Amino acid sequence: MGNHIITAALPYSNGELHLGHLRSTYLPPDIYVRFLRQLGDQAIYLCATDEHGTPILLSSEKAKQKPAEYVKQWRTRHLADLNSIGIKFDLFSHTHDPAHIELTQKMYEKIKVHTFRSPVQQYWCPDEDKPLPDRYVIGQCPFCQAEEQYGDTCESCGKAIPPGKLIDPSCKTCGAKATVKKKEHIFFRLSAFADRLASWISDELDTTQDIKNFALEWAKDLRDWDITRDIDWGVPIPDYDGVFYVWFDAPIGYMTTLRSWCEKTGEKFEDWWNPNSEIVHFIGKDIVYHHVLFWPAMLMAAGFALPTKVPVRGYLMLENKKLSKSRGRYLSIADWIQSGQDPEYLRFYLSFTTPLGMKDTDFSADEYHSVVNEGLVNNYGNLLQRILKFSERFDSAIPKAKLGPIFNDVREKKNGFEQLMSKGKLMAALKVATGAANDVNAYFQGAEPWKYEKTAPDTIKTAASCLKLITQMLAPFIPVRAEKAADLLNIELSWKDSEPLKSGHKLKNPKILFDHVSDSDVEKIKSVYGDS
Ligand code: MSP
Ligand code: ZN
Repeated sequence: MGNHIITAALPYSNGELHLGHLRSTYLPPDIYVRFLRQLGDQAIYLCATDEHGTPILLSSEKAKQKPAEYVKQWRTRHLADLNSIGIKFDLFSHTHDPAHIELTQKMYEKIKVHTFRSPVQQYWCPDEDKPLPDRYVIGQCPFCQAEEQYGDTCESCGKAIPPGKLIDPSCKTCGAKATVKKKEHIFFRLSAFADRLASWISDELDTTQDIKNFALEWAKDLRDWDITRDIDWGVPIPDYDGVFYVWFDAPIGYMTTLRSWCEKTGEKFEDWWNPNSEIVHFIGKDIVYHHVLFWPAMLMAAGFALPTKVPVRGYLMLENKKLSKSRGRYLSIADWIQSGQDPEYLRFYLSFTTPLGMKDTDFSADEYHSVVNEGLVNNYGNLLQRILKFSERFDSAIPKAKLGPIFNDVREKKNGFEQLMSKGKLMAALKVATGAANDVNAYFQGAEPWKYEKTAPDTIKTAASCLKLITQMLAPFIPVRAEKAADLLNIELSWKDSEPLKSGHKLKNPKILFDHVSDSDVEKIKSVYGDS
């Protein structure tokens, strides 16, 4: 396998990141990259903020800030929030970066033969003499007559409103009656790529079947794609008075970030973005078409390697209800840290409960309590503590003894774990690791080394050797504690080393690394989103 380029969807520089973002998009790649490095592979984790588009422009106007200043604040916040959960990027860039603007324009030149111009109906403010993009115009829905709807979709009946069809449209900023004009837009010939996309999705792309089916359904009826917007915040189009649609420039951000990373490190872009590399885009389920249809079509048009894997995860529910930012029913990353909760326990819990695919999954404070305490603290944490404590009877060194057969079982589990991790099946892999810890706990308990002095050396050697492999497996999920555990066990976390501990191997004195999640933690978490 060549190099691995691992990316997470670029978060909008607009509003706080919450546990949903973390669960579907930012945590899984961090774990995956850590695992690849443990294997000894060349892997980088890239991300950036997505800073263009009308919603961001509107938010900045509301905040009475220049858009460039507005996005900068969120960029700093996002990176700090993600770092606080142990998520580390090789580079975290942003799409208003001059390098990105330049690369987007170059990309446009490359795909230009696949574009055409065609007039669209465009709302216009006569007082300010300027075009009004969707979010700048309001009027009545032509289908259900709901008042105060934006130009693109009716929030009341959910229908897409065709361009120019709002009843009594007016300019959202100055209130003037809007007119409708014809304006030329640039379209990307997405329809021309339908067949190639369909066979790539079926035969080559590595993702779950539900995502493939979903994308293939869309591929049957691909419309050409309007890539222009008449606002002045975005990447300017060289031969047109306007900017690129934000979804045209945003995915190019993956490449720009790689290019900037290469510049910083002296690596060559071509050594990374090529058909021998693994190119992985981690995303949430709402942006599948952009990553499985639009972006790959752009890459095909420009002659670049396509992504190899697109791991998709569903939405986060909170105590079985939808998150609602406006009602404060959500848990931001900052809330988590500020209420004194453990970032690694969150990593563990989210990884333990988030499958691949479209399915939404719930966050529940009570489930968090039981999953972490039972799956980690009473399981692996307890085992580590017991073994280190018990080994004090042998001067904290592995005694000369026989290795029990359970060691081979755990070694096999480690192989199974590797297979699952390589496929990106993180939840299933984690369960293999905690299952192994369970088995070794039961083995230790059953062998009763405190009672049977003769077999006690075998038990301790066997259990400690198993613990070594389990610690290696848990490392990508709980890196800080795994480092500390490795130090206490005096072992390497490198994947290659699956040998049992040798007689005479020194261990350190026990230290408590895993506290229980308490009832008061649960209360604190619930108080953030005010749930009873
Ligand atoms: N800017 C785009 C992505 C551009 S990629 C070239 C975007 N940004 S976002 O901030 O809205 O979302 C960032 C990521 O979080 C996306 O992968 C999105 O699917 C995911 N999620 C957003 N809300 C979520 C939940 N409530 N639950 C789970 N994932 C969520 O989309
Ligand atoms: Zn309607």
